[in-house]
Amino acid sequence: MTANEIRQKFLEFFKGKGHTVIPSASLIPENDPSVLFTTAGMHPLVPYLLGENHPGGKRLVDIQKCVRTGDIDEVGDYSHHTFFEMLGNWSLGDYFKKEIIEWSYEFLTSLEWLGLDKNRIAISVFEGDKDAPFDDESYEAWKKLGIDEKKIARLPKKNNWWGPVGDTGPCGPDTEMFCWAGDLNKIPESFDENNPLWLEIWNDVFMQYDKTKNDKFEQLSQKNVDTGMGLERTLAVVNGLDDNYKTELFWPIIQKIEELSGRSYDNEQKAMRIIADHLKAATFILGDEKGIMPSNTGQGYVLRRLIRRAVRYGKQLGIRYFTFEIAQVVIEMYKDIYPELLKNKNFVLGNLSEEEEKFEKTLEKGLKEFDKGTSPFILFTTYGFPLEMTKELAKERGTTMDEEEFYNEFKKHQELSQTASAGMFKGGLSDVGEENIKLHTATHLLRQALEEVFGEKIIQKGSNITTERLRFDFTHNTKMTDEEKKKVEELVNEKIKQKLSVNKIIMKKEEAKKTGASHSFADKYGDEVSVYYIGDSLETAYSKEFCGGPHVENTGELGHFKIVKEEAVSAGIRRIKAILE
Ligand code: ALA
Repeated sequence: MTANEIRQKFLEFFKGKGHTVIPSASLIPENDPSVLFTTAGMHPLVPYLLGENHPGGKRLVDIQKCVRTGDIDEVGDYSHHTFFEMLGNWSLGDYFKKEIIEWSYEFLTSLEWLGLDKNRIAISVFEGDKDAPFDDESYEAWKKLGIDEKKIARLPKKNNWWGPVGDTGPCGPDTEMFCWAGDLNKIPESFDENNPLWLEIWNDVFMQYDKTKNDKFEQLSQKNVDTGMGLERTLAVVNGLDDNYKTELFWPIIQKIEELSGRSYDNEQKAMRIIADHLKAATFILGDEKGIMPSNTGQGYVLRRLIRRAVRYGKQLGIRYFTFEIAQVVIEMYKDIYPELLKNKNFVLGNLSEEEEKFEKTLEKGLKEFDKGTSPFILFTTYGFPLEMTKELAKERGTTMDEEEFYNEFKKHQELSQTASAGMFKGGLSDVGEENIKLHTATHLLRQALEEVFGEKIIQKGSNITTERLRFDFTHNTKMTDEEKKKVEELVNEKIKQKLSVNKIIMKKEEAKKTGASHSFADKYGDEVSVYYIGDSLETAYSKEFCGGPHVENTGELGHFKIVKEEAVSAGIRRIKAILE
């Protein structure tokens, strides 16, 4: 059976049970700072599990792309992944345990659907604790379907409870379905949750609780069902494979790694699995509409870790400058299901190559430094070794890493930069550094260039600067054409070439307004404001803005300005991401 057949069957099956098919959401959660990535199909549905009406009705089904880093240390075995597709269906206060358990069993075992041998199926249910009782309803439902008691385990919250994502929100007991992934002539008589060959493939969660801030579990206004089935695992067991990497969802990637390295998968399983998994995840993160790039914070840091770890394992196999080749295979495999990968192909390949090159420059030296016992903090700051990678290296060498030293140094460093920022940088920048300051000045040039190109006043809706890029949100109704983007770039670069001086003047707010300086956030400023202008005098300046700074002294310091992305944030608001190179 192919992956696509399973995807189609799942959607068909639940459509037949009255479910509406909804599209996969972005890998980057909307307006939810509690988690970095979409980790399950239920994540974008939280408001509806809490009682809001969903336009698709009370029964939904989808295939959601997910990234989970919780299992990253397990990646390298036969069944754990950082990126995976979750087949999921939901009851929003509609059907409950009995229905979904019957349907799950039907979908797994009926010849019309997955047709798995009933002897290969085992189950776990929640044993109960102070927060919620033993789930005898699920237990009985499975028994009634003919599952032997020896194949139904009663397990604690650690195993059989799901959610919430983040600290609070919908959650509940679950019942999990396992499939024997080992020798089909040796299917055990009873279930053993500690045997990894009993592979969890599907989870039915009964979301009837809301975990509150003070760790209480309150009843939700409605009883929901949230299920999630791992496509990669299901594909393996349905085809009688004991290794997810041998399915069509990984094998072309493994083959590419074999080809590039001239080594065989059988001898290099762990390294090849990690490379395949991590670069697939990196391709999907970069290929998502949100334009995440490698960095030292948030999603960007996870992305960086994934790429750099893959590069290190590549080194072990003797391959270099290979990440974009792997990404090309991934894009080819998934482009019909996830067209955004093709759309963002250049962004994906460009960023991968750049990150790999950056790391290649320091990897060799960093490894030598590691062997000399250099501290993890120096390895991080000077050689770009993610902390987790240093930890892993230490483990491989049979030693441990001094994590405390790392955090102490890190804190000291942060305190230093916070003191600096409190004194000097009141411009609302998230991080302090030369790159940020340059990007900040570039933001002013960008804004002015946009007004010139559009021939209209634009209102700034937001700005965010990291060490890698600037982000600028502004009012404008249409997507920018390639020509407009090019013009804006040219204008900014022209102003950089002209080596204009950047100056600051403090003025009374009313007077400052009369100069025509931009002030999108006028209310935030007090009676006196500082105006930054770029050019020799306030009168002849190219750009004038109310701003707290900091800025470079001269635009000549900026380098070359490039727009890497232009997209809609919402109706009438566009977002530009740009870099200096
Ligand atoms: N949300 C549940 C899970 O991820 C279905 O396992």
